[in-house]
Amino acid sequence: MPTAGTSSAAPDATLAPPNWADDSTPLGRLISAVLAVEPLRQLLFQQARSMMIRTAEQRGIPWRARRDELRRQAEPLLAACTNPATTTPHYYRARFHAYNQGNLCWQAACEAEQATASVALRVWKNEPLTPEAAEARMREAIFAAIAPSLTSPVRDALDVGCSVGISTLLLKTWIEARQGHPVRVSGLDLSPQMLAVATVRDHQHRIHAWHHAAAEATGLPPASVDLITLQFVCHELPAEAIAAVLREAARLLRPGGVLAMVDQDPQSPTIRAMPAPLATLLKSTEPYLAEYFALDMEAALRQVGFTDIRCVASDHRHRVLVAR
Ligand SMILES: C[S@@+](CC[C@H](N)C(=O)[O-])C[C@H]1O[C@@H](n2cnc3c(N)ncnc32)[C@H](O)[C@@H]1O
Repeated sequence: MPTAGTSSAAPDATLAPPNWADDSTPLGRLISAVLAVEPLRQLLFQQARSMMIRTAEQRGIPWRARRDELRRQAEPLLAACTNPATTTPHYYRARFHAYNQGNLCWQAACEAEQATASVALRVWKNEPLTPEAAEARMREAIFAAIAPSLTSPVRDALDVGCSVGISTLLLKTWIEARQGHPVRVSGLDLSPQMLAVATVRDHQHRIHAWHHAAAEATGLPPASVDLITLQFVCHELPAEAIAAVLREAARLLRPGGVLAMVDQDPQSPTIRAMPAPLATLLKSTEPYLAEYFALDMEAALRQVGFTDIRCVASDHRHRVLVAR
């Protein structure tokens, strides 16, 4: 794993997106052309999905059994987790991952925990880690990257794009261990199914509130939060939505409050050198990935008024941007 380091805010030539994600390159165009053939795309999807489930189960993630168990428990909670006043932006209804209904379906929600553990295992794929150990290592590195920016106590934290609450619960555990006293941590997501699963997973009721809202229009009071995290969310957003989410985060933060975002690092040598077949699969399941890779995130943060921006590689695939 490369050593974590900070970058200056100055853009450089390596900011160009990986060639496979960039349609102005021959490889990017070829991959997009392949994915435009619907039967081919479907076939790739199905193969990728079967391979993912098989690999996960071989490595100790009980993919299908856990999915069925979560669904049984979460389904009765759907109405309680739905805010009828919430407007779902059009871009959010896109096909994400291998799911035609994107994040708005039970399958996505009941497989998110297993998929997250698979991502963590993939980061250290040559080490014999358990899914739990890989997940813990990935989050510890993320939180360690945030720590230097937290110079005053956190009373309220908000995990935006909380999905099924893995990042939210771990964030609460980390802040409380660090501060030695309880903190109010809430999660926010646009998928009621994800929130229903989050509620099931939060069986000890440790989370203050699970909000069903859009990250760019949370409806929460201004200057009400000390720390906002966006963990693995931005690559699911078009560039315009990212700008709106950053504006909303700035509105929600108290003076001196901190925003931390972790996601794929467009400059990661591992990601840039991804073999074409894998890149094709990834591109086929992430509709806004190319936009995310093309965006200068530090500039986007500065534009909204964030300062003290730090960029830290938390592992060889992911970077954490922390700003005040
Ligand atoms: C990959 S998951 C994040 C997982 C989680 N934060 C973690 O670290 O394990 C991305 C989540 O962002 C949510 N999301 C995407 N766009 C959103 C938006 N505009 N507003 C709120 N949530 C959004 C999705 O519903 C999904 O649950």
